[in-house]
Amino acid sequence: MSPVTHTTRPQHNGILVLDYGSQYTLLIVRRLREIGIYSEVIDGRESQPPAGFQIDGIILSGGPDSVYEDGSRPLPKWVLPLNVPILGICYGMQLLVEQAGGHVRAATKREYGHAVMHAKKSSGPAACLFPPTPVKQTVWMSHGDDIAKIPDEFDISGETDDHVVAAITHKIKPIAALQYHPEVAHSEQGLELLKTFATKLCHLALSWDGKSRVDSLCKHIRDVVGDGHVLVACSGGVDSTVTAALLLKALGPDQVTAVFCDTGLLRKHEVEWVSERLKVLGLRHLEILRSSALFFERLKGVTEPEQKRKIIGGLFIEEFERYAKKHPEFTHLGQGTLYPDVIESAGHGAGSKVIKSHHNVGGLPDRLALKLVEPFRWLFKDEVRTIGLELGLPEELIQRHPFPGPGLAVRIIGDVTPERVAMLQEADHIFISALREHGLYHVPWQAFAVLLPVKSVGVMGDNRTYQQTIALRAVTSSDGMTAGVADLPLSFLTRVSDMIVRRVQGINRVVFDITTKPPATIEWE
Ligand code: XMP
Repeated sequence: MSPVTHTTRPQHNGILVLDYGSQYTLLIVRRLREIGIYSEVIDGRESQPPAGFQIDGIILSGGPDSVYEDGSRPLPKWVLPLNVPILGICYGMQLLVEQAGGHVRAATKREYGHAVMHAKKSSGPAACLFPPTPVKQTVWMSHGDDIAKIPDEFDISGETDDHVVAAITHKIKPIAALQYHPEVAHSEQGLELLKTFATKLCHLALSWDGKSRVDSLCKHIRDVVGDGHVLVACSGGVDSTVTAALLLKALGPDQVTAVFCDTGLLRKHEVEWVSERLKVLGLRHLEILRSSALFFERLKGVTEPEQKRKIIGGLFIEEFERYAKKHPEFTHLGQGTLYPDVIESAGHGAGSKVIKSHHNVGGLPDRLALKLVEPFRWLFKDEVRTIGLELGLPEELIQRHPFPGPGLAVRIIGDVTPERVAMLQEADHIFISALREHGLYHVPWQAFAVLLPVKSVGVMGDNRTYQQTIALRAVTSSDGMTAGVADLPLSFLTRVSDMIVRRVQGINRVVFDITTKPPATIEWE
């Protein structure tokens, strides 16, 4: 991928987050933007602050390292001399404690999940982060180390029931550190704390709203593309569709071609649905690659989730490459790459665990020698949704539930065959249509069906059945990084179950997944 340049950066000051490999780092940035604070993230090992960005405050993320182990990521030398407010979270806290002469140890009891924190009176400018009420609050912990001795220049501002140091504040400087994660929704006062940090300590106004950047983005696209021709890979999802719409607005229909790959792993009627909407956008050049046979062939017998993901990601690239090589007129590849994709592919947090290898068509530009045009590489998904609405795209398209790049393959546990895809498509269609009909579509942030290879005994009419299971998943979330279980009425779920068992051949049982993320992920694979 081309390096991030500051020329297209939408704002030039705000809070800088240093990433030490936590699964939640981007959530910190996301939360700050949500409350109106522009924020960016860099690798916690950078030897220099980013050029062209005025740092009003710093947040140090959590991470898997232990400060007392060789090779753990240190606090860069340039951070403290900046004299800006600092908030350390988890590993970030331990870094601050260690460098100020405190002591961090392996916790005797690894804390994971909810804990109750009791606020304690402290002094210093950062004490405002811990108001006297509420005296008790629920916080979200995830750590293996804790603080054995706090440095002399700090006060304890919060302790858990088990007397684990949960929060400390510097006695003189605007520095605070937390053992818990304020960015995770389960931490009751977390958002309020981030807001107070930004406004009271960093003196920032809540002015970032992610809106009205259509004109500047169009100008950026015209500067990058000139009179070239853009190939845009569309999936029917929000990001690629808004990218196509923005490219059309900036360049007009003669300079844009959309390509849509039918992998055979899409939802029922998806190809027709997406094609129609892309035409409504004013696209004159739309190419549909009919690739399902190839995808099924390569997935034959593959059951391991990561292998499925890698095969599908690779095939996407092959298919687009095959198409693009026949069309030398293309000069650019338009992608709906979002800020989280940029950060992920920049490989921060080497050492943070890969949970799933998400895929986009990121390997393409190098193979095709096309230049990239990525108007959204500084933005999050809901910021792109706002732009989509400003461009006049239908609400129905913009507010669609997300759909994963590898498609239904990661919702079919075990073998992916055309028959099993057809079963899942039907069950999923019944579920989603019922949500729409009952006005419940937006209760979950994302909902779908999963096909399980579990067979169980049932009875239909007078006959015994021994058939497969569908799991329904419906989650609440704001960004997919954490999720709760959507509160759908049991009477509704029972009706959906009834319809699925009656209409989908081979299914005799439906279950509802009631797991949050973490500890589960949203998709099953
Ligand atoms: P997980 O399963 O990681 O999913 O909790 C979080 C969100 O990401 C979507 N997802 C993907 N999106 N390519 C995508 O574009 C992928 O490979 C991919 N895998 C998961 C998932 O649907 C959920 O919204």
